[in-house]
Amino acid sequence: MIYVTRRLTFSASHRLFNPSFSAAENERIFDKCSNVHGHGHNYVLEVTVAGEPNPETGYVIDLKKLKAIVMREIIEKVDHKHLNHDVEFLSGIIPTAENIARAFWKILEPQITEGKLHSVRLHETENNVVEVLGG
Ligand code: NI
Repeated sequence: MIYVTRRLTFSASHRLFNPSFSAAENERIFDKCSNVHGHGHNYVLEVTVAGEPNPETGYVIDLKKLKAIVMREIIEKVDHKHLNHDVEFLSGIIPTAENIARAFWKILEPQITEGKLHSVRLHETENNVVEVLGG
């Protein structure tokens, strides 16, 4: 099995906030991440597809095609957006890296028809990374 990865970046803002918590609870749990007007991140998204190389092309999946899928399905919808307000597929969820990465998985998984989606990794900062393996 061979794993191929395409890396893409986007910038977006979010606020970690649970409407069912009191203001004090939101502040205690989410701290600065719950500031009323939100804050931004330069996210790095890594999408990995697993499979065997096609004997005719040598590719598991043509990375140009993988890039086009991720651009169309994800990046164009989240880049320079406020993830709490502007993105339909994130509405009603707390936009932690965990929840964002899982939402990306659900969208991408059926779109990958050469090889199979193996993982979605979302770097929220240089130090914080979330990985989804399977839905
Ligand atoms: Ni944040």
